[in-house]
Amino acid sequence: MSDAAIDPFPVEGTHHIEMWVSNAKQAAFYYQHAYGFVPVAYAGLETGVRDRASHVLQQGNIRLVLTSPLGVNDEIGQHIAKHGDGVRDLAILVPDARAAHAHAIAKGAVSFREPEVITDEHGAVSIAAIRTYGDTIHSLVERGNYAGAFLPGFRALELPADTDWAGAGLKDVDHCVGNTEDMNPWVKFYGDVMGFTELNQFTDEDINTEYSALMSKVVSSGDGKVKFPINEPAEGKRKSQIEEYLDYYGGAGVQHIALETDDIVKTVTNLRDRGVKFYDRPAAYYSEAVDRIGKIEEDWEDLKRLGILVDKDEEGYLLQIFTHNLQDRPTVFFEIIQRKGAKGFGDGNFKALFEAIEAEQALRGNL
Ligand code: FE2
Repeated sequence: MSDAAIDPFPVEGTHHIEMWVSNAKQAAFYYQHAYGFVPVAYAGLETGVRDRASHVLQQGNIRLVLTSPLGVNDEIGQHIAKHGDGVRDLAILVPDARAAHAHAIAKGAVSFREPEVITDEHGAVSIAAIRTYGDTIHSLVERGNYAGAFLPGFRALELPADTDWAGAGLKDVDHCVGNTEDMNPWVKFYGDVMGFTELNQFTDEDINTEYSALMSKVVSSGDGKVKFPINEPAEGKRKSQIEEYLDYYGGAGVQHIALETDDIVKTVTNLRDRGVKFYDRPAAYYSEAVDRIGKIEEDWEDLKRLGILVDKDEEGYLLQIFTHNLQDRPTVFFEIIQRKGAKGFGDGNFKALFEAIEAEQALRGNL
C-alpha cells in the first residue's frame, strides 16, 4: 500500500479506457473480432440505463468500454459530432478515490464528477473524475473488493465455455499518448496534480522528418504503472501530423494507446490474420536497424515480415508496431509493444514511423 505522506496521489494502474463512438454495438464487434477482446459486460436500456449503451470488453488486464448515446443532442452525441469516435476517459485505478479527487482539486484540477459510492449485489466502488486535456477525463476508480464483471450497474454477459481469453495475447496498457496544442501546461498538470515525474525529453531535432515535427515529453507515476507521453506540434516545412490530428479531432485528445504483449511476433501474426492493418516501415529500415540495435532474441526475418520495429536504450530493447487509425478520421490508433528491458517509447523509431505516417497523410492530401 502506498504511503500518502510520500505519494499524495498513489495510482495502481489503468482501470479502463472508455471510447465514445457513434455505434458501440458495431465497434464492440470490431474490437472483439479484429483485436481479440472478449465482451464481458453491458449497460443500456435492458439494464435500466436510458441515455446510453456501453459495451465492456476485456483482454488480459485491459478493459475497453465502448459507449454510444441513445438520445439526441446530449453530451455524448456532441462529443462524437466534434471529435468523431475517440477516447473520452483514461480511468485510473486508485486506492482512495475521495482522497485522490480532493488532492487533485486542491492542486488545481477541474472536477468532472464528485466522489460517490456506487453499489450493486457484487459490492461497492468509489468513483470520481477530473478533467484533463481537451474533452478527455480521468475517472478515479477505487475498486476495493468489488466482485462484479466491471462496475456496479453493468450486467455481466454469459460467456461460452470455449471463450478465448488469450485473444491476441494483449496483456496490459503500457502507455497512453495525448496530442495537445501546448504540452508544457499538461506536463506541469500531471506533476502538480498526480505527482507524476517527467521521464525523458526529446526535441524536434530528434523527431523531425522532412515535412513534420513534434515535441514530446513523458510523465509517469512513481512506479511506472501509468505513463502519459504528451505531444505538441513543432515547426516543420509542411503541416505537422500532430496538427493534422488536432484539426480532425477538434482539439487535444488521445492519439494512441500502447498495448503490451509478451510475444509480439505471435500477437502481430494473430492480429494480421484477423485483418488488422499496420503501418509499413520504409524499406531501408531493417538494414539500418540491424546495425543500430545489434543482437536480439527474435528472428529479424520475422520482424521484417511482420513490420515490427525495434529500438534500444541503456537498459534493453523494445519491439513495437503501430496500427492504422481505428476510425475514418486520422486520429486514434493502437501501438503494440513488447519490452525487453527498455523503458523508453521507441524514440529511435519515431523518424521511421513518421515517414510512414506521412506517406499516408500525403495520400489524404493533408501534407
Ligand atoms: Fe507509443
